[in-house]
Amino acid sequence: MIKLIQGNSQHLLAQIHDESIDMVLTSPPYDNIRSYNGNNSLWNEQVWTRVIEHLYRIIKTGGVVVWIVGDATIDGSETGTSFEQALFAKKVGFNLHDTMIYQKFGSGLPHKSHRYGQSFEYMFIFSKGDIGDKGVIKTFPKTGKVGKTTRRQKDGSIKRGTYNIGGGKLSNIWQYAGESKTDHPAPFPENLARDHILSWSNEGDTILDCFMGSGTTGKVAKDLNRSFIGIELDFEYFDIAESRIK
Ligand SMILES: C[S@@+](CC[C@H](N)C(=O)[O-])C[C@H]1O[C@@H](n2cnc3c(N)ncnc32)[C@H](O)[C@@H]1O
Repeated sequence: MIKLIQGNSQHLLAQIHDESIDMVLTSPPYDNIRSYNGNNSLWNEQVWTRVIEHLYRIIKTGGVVVWIVGDATIDGSETGTSFEQALFAKKVGFNLHDTMIYQKFGSGLPHKSHRYGQSFEYMFIFSKGDIGDKGVIKTFPKTGKVGKTTRRQKDGSIKRGTYNIGGGKLSNIWQYAGESKTDHPAPFPENLARDHILSWSNEGDTILDCFMGSGTTGKVAKDLNRSFIGIELDFEYFDIAESRIK
């Protein structure tokens, strides 16, 4: 089942039944960084608080929301909106299962004289209740090189161990080259969508993207035999997503 809806998630999510969604993979606007054909003038705290409340209501117990976000820098300071959203998600009942990093190859350079090149975005993993056997261990085999490490224990003693370098996805920092396959200004890479969908859902599950953009989540969800519900405010991006998914 594929269902694409043009409109505002702040209101449309009310139509989705309680505990009917297995996984959400989405990336909201990052403050005012992009205009999104002018529709970003509607974006504010009221919208994202309402959306996060709805997500908690509609996600099944054991489900995961992947919320990919970054902050604008205004008057020399990062806004911190991404952290506010993560803490609000905890307030409505989600667990902050993990704070993952999406590092973009080939971006963030050259750095400015007073600030290092910005090369990553947050991927907050919000979960509702016990997520069972979902997660990275099941999906990604240990394929990277193994290095040696030491870890300081609570009592100050040192424990020696090994860690995985690259190859597999055992680390919570994921690296991808940026992609621009459509006219949408801020898509995430298909491989990023793929790795999250494989990590946090099963075949036949229903996946929602409430800020669908060019439809990357929907395209990959369909390829991986998941059902998909997508909501996008802008008509132009909605059309791009529709032709890409259908
Ligand atoms: C960061 S982009 C998502 C990009 C998407 N992940 C992709 O790969 O193409 C955020 C999208 O949210 C849309 N949007 C903003 N506010 C919205 C709202 N209230 N309801 C639905 N969509 C909204 C914007 O038009 C924009 O396309």
